[in-house]
Amino acid sequence: MAQTLLRILVLHGPNLNLLGEREPEIYGSADLDTIEADLSSLGFELGALVASRQSNHEGQLVEWIQEARQDWDGILLNAAGYTHTSVAIRDAISAAEKPCIEVHLSNVHAREPFRHRSMIAAVCVGVVLGFGPNSYALGLRGLIDYLRMPRGNG
Ligand code: DQA
Repeated sequence: MAQTLLRILVLHGPNLNLLGEREPEIYGSADLDTIEADLSSLGFELGALVASRQSNHEGQLVEWIQEARQDWDGILLNAAGYTHTSVAIRDAISAAEKPCIEVHLSNVHAREPFRHRSMIAAVCVGVVLGFGPNSYALGLRGLIDYLRMPRGNG
C-alpha cells in the first residue's frame, strides 16, 4: 500500500545561520544550506516533505512551532541556546500536539554545565546529540519511524 507523504518541519534556532564559520572545532564545517539540502534529500528518500527554517528570534520559533498544529506532522528542532532557557518554546511544543525531536550538533553534556539542562527534552519524543550534522539525519529517521509506527489504544 502506498504510504502517505509526511510533512516535517525542521527548525534551527539562534546563531545556527553561522554554521560553517562559527566555532568549527565544536560545530563542524558544514553550513546550514548543506545540512538543509541533505535533509531534504533524505526526506525525499524516506517519503517525507522536509521544510527547513532558521531564526535568531524566540517568538518567531514559537510561531513556527504553533503552525505544526495544522500544517506539519512532526518537528525536528535544534533550539540552540534557547534549549537551555525557553519556557515559551517548551510550551509551544506542548501546545502543538505533534511529535518533536530535539537535536544538537555537539554533545552538550560534555560542555559547560549550563548546557546540561534542556527545557524542552521532557516534551520531546526523543533527543539526538553529539553526531554533528548527522544528528539531524538520525533525528529525521527516528521521527519518520515514530510517525509511521502503528499505535494502538493501550
Ligand atoms: C547547540 C548546542 C547549544 O548549547 C548551543 O547554544 C548552540 C548549538 C548544538 O547544536 O550543539 O547554539 O544546540
